[in-house]
Amino acid sequence: MTRVLFVCLGNICRSPMAEYVLRRLAAERGLSDKIRAASAGTSGFHDGEDMHRGTKTVLQRHGIDTGGFTSRKIEATDKQHYDYIVAMDDANLAELERLFGRHPDKLFKLTDLIPESGYSHVPDPWYTGDFDETYALAAAGCAALLDKIAAEKGL
Ligand code: 4NP
Repeated sequence: MTRVLFVCLGNICRSPMAEYVLRRLAAERGLSDKIRAASAGTSGFHDGEDMHRGTKTVLQRHGIDTGGFTSRKIEATDKQHYDYIVAMDDANLAELERLFGRHPDKLFKLTDLIPESGYSHVPDPWYTGDFDETYALAAAGCAALLDKIAAEKGL
């Protein structure tokens, strides 16, 4: 099993979007039993809450189920439990490296996988209001991440 943890600040907007998109893309590739997706936030601001309505609305518009989500803060043990820990921006990555050390093979930004997008981070829709942009980057980034996992894990 390959386990992926997406990380943003609040764990209600960007990282849940990526979590649910990856799960869908893995299912489409017949890899649901080989890849697990989860997400967490660096802040804990929204612990115990459901994902943001904007994230939920866009996922549902793309036919993706949004059930069963609960926001949580990153934990020290996450480093051992996940094969890939994928940050949405530089602040998330800096916090992950502060907690877990520098591990470029394991800890990186989603946008590192899609240089052709022209984005160096996933902009935060909590501030921009643009959840369609979040979805587009999650879809492109997760497709690239699946290619990476398939190549590295021989799937
Ligand atoms: P996220 O967005 O990190 O993509 O989940 C945010 C959600 C909440 C807050 C900031 C960003 N907040 O400050 O509460």
